[in-house]
Amino acid sequence: MILLGVNIDHCATVRQARYPAARGQEGGAVEPDPVEFALASERAGADGITVHLREDRRHIQDRDVWRLREKISTRLNLEMACTPAMTEFALKLKPYSVCLVPENRAEITTEGGLDIVGNRERVRAVVDAMNTAGIKTSLFIDPDAPQIELGAKLGAPWIELHTGAYANACFGQPRAAEFERLRVGANVGHQLGLTVNAGHGINYVNIAEVRTLPHLHELNIGHSIVSRALFGGVAEAVREMKRLMNA
Ligand code: PXP
Repeated sequence: MILLGVNIDHCATVRQARYPAARGQEGGAVEPDPVEFALASERAGADGITVHLREDRRHIQDRDVWRLREKISTRLNLEMACTPAMTEFALKLKPYSVCLVPENRAEITTEGGLDIVGNRERVRAVVDAMNTAGIKTSLFIDPDAPQIELGAKLGAPWIELHTGAYANACFGQPRAAEFERLRVGANVGHQLGLTVNAGHGINYVNIAEVRTLPHLHELNIGHSIVSRALFGGVAEAVREMKRLMNA
């Protein structure tokens, strides 16, 4: 059974569009509350909750993360940049896992995998700190063998393969080629003893193919679930995705 991590960033995006000064406060007119979204996701079967605390705080706020830590009953996965400030934050927060992602201020969302080959020492420092603290590190990387191999060497237990290039590729040969990259990447990760997760751009249509990737442990899905929830509610959106993931 493939597990579902629900990424609630874009629930916070909607709140920040109107209440940027609220800094993650809840109640009164300030809505929607991402923590309520997380709790509703859990009730509908989410296996974990993911948030990305970005340096520019464009969606999730610090207070959201602390409230989640207190209130959710599944696993909290904190996506973060590979910086000393975020490392310090994570060591205080003690989430179940952290997922190291690249951050570029101009991007609309996380656009490519973390280049761990080019940032080896920075990644090593965070992985070592998390291993010592008993927090699992996941590396959000493109499905390329050198990145995956180095991830294993640095001692990270998990990888999250970036499915964005696959999701954005045109149907037909370009998409088939990206799927093949993911398939090979998942096999390489598994052979190296890594837990293989995947995420970015997964939706109610492409899940039919994504779920056939080998060795998948968990998928992190955000935008499509938040979007679907606008029409049928959070519970239906989460249940339908879980049903399609494990059809
Ligand atoms: N996984 C990671 C590491 C991400 O950065 C994101 C998006 O921020 C997701 C999964 C979820 O992507 P989407 O919102 O497209 O489902």
